[in-house]
Amino acid sequence: MPNKIHAAITGVHGWVPEDRLTNFDLEKMVDTNDEWITSRTGIRERRILKTPGWATSDMCTEAVKGLLEKTGTKPGEIDMLIVGTITGDMVFPDTANTVCDKIGAKNAFGYDINAACSGFLYALATGAQFVQTETYSKVVVVGADMMSSIIDYTDRNTCVIFGDGAAAVLLEPRKDGTGITDFVLRGDGSGREFLHMKAGGSLHPPSAETVAAREHYAWQDGKRVFVHAVRGMTSTVESLLRRNKMTIEDVNWIVPHQANMRIITSVAEHLEFPMERVTINISKYGNTTAATLPLCLWEYEDRFKKGDNIILTAFGGGFTWGSIYLVWAY
Ligand code: COA
Repeated sequence: MPNKIHAAITGVHGWVPEDRLTNFDLEKMVDTNDEWITSRTGIRERRILKTPGWATSDMCTEAVKGLLEKTGTKPGEIDMLIVGTITGDMVFPDTANTVCDKIGAKNAFGYDINAACSGFLYALATGAQFVQTETYSKVVVVGADMMSSIIDYTDRNTCVIFGDGAAAVLLEPRKDGTGITDFVLRGDGSGREFLHMKAGGSLHPPSAETVAAREHYAWQDGKRVFVHAVRGMTSTVESLLRRNKMTIEDVNWIVPHQANMRIITSVAEHLEFPMERVTINISKYGNTTAATLPLCLWEYEDRFKKGDNIILTAFGGGFTWGSIYLVWAY
């Protein structure tokens, strides 16, 4: 809607570690094979952060530095920085504050949002509110996870899926009809049973027993997650279309969470949306949790055109899920 202020994405930049963990590497670590992983998930390799002393904040810092350079933004101009992550550097303080320090964003404040694979969606919707209400004019939203820090590389059910990475967007006000237009975000905490990291929080603080029981790793009931993911992503895209009086033909791109290629295909089939206009990079990076959506935006940035109707959709631990409708701004 022209004249109304929307928060628009005016730049995106990503960063992934150089080290690759291929399906063939995994064949040597657990009882699996390239054919199984490729056909069941669509993943061929993932990136793993191995730089000594580096953690999630360092991946965020690289992504944000690139974003600032690309958009000609000075660190001191940033008002707010939000990080969607479940693998922050420490339990506290939050990673957003650490990133502000590392990039020299002296006038910014920020915080982390823990919504697992929906972390970037929740963070983007949150950041957009501050811009849309004219509270702030430069908000950076990052999705980042160092999943390798919470993956059990003896568990073939999870270790084939996840990887590390980070990507960031800049949100600024626009009055030309571009920007974040609507969103549907959902949550159902009863899903925590099927996708979680059992220990390390206040329920099961770290102890010799929790370490011995391998409870500091991500665990999932893959089948259960799969079914809920397809349902949750499809239904929130449909809600957005109904609310905005759009049909699927009005959508130029769908940017789905990269959890499993079969989940992505199934969502597109349910929506009767052509796969050529679905962003996909899962074969290279696997599931980078909160980083998948902005990494896709980064990768497809050159193919998007100003005015394109884009729907972001994700599903993750919690359960958390939802979709965001935005009009591309450049
Ligand atoms: N290599 C080889 N075999 C494997 C394997 C692996 N890496 N992982 C599991 N298997 C085996 C299972 O043990 C099972 O063997 P069984 O029949 O002898 O018991 C068989 O393959 C089928 O397992 P199943 O769990 O039914 O496979 P699946 O088709 O559901 O695929 C996932 C498993 C995890 C890939 C899939 O369920 C998935 O992607 N779920 C969503 C997970 C997700 O996205 N999580 C992130 C949060 S959004």
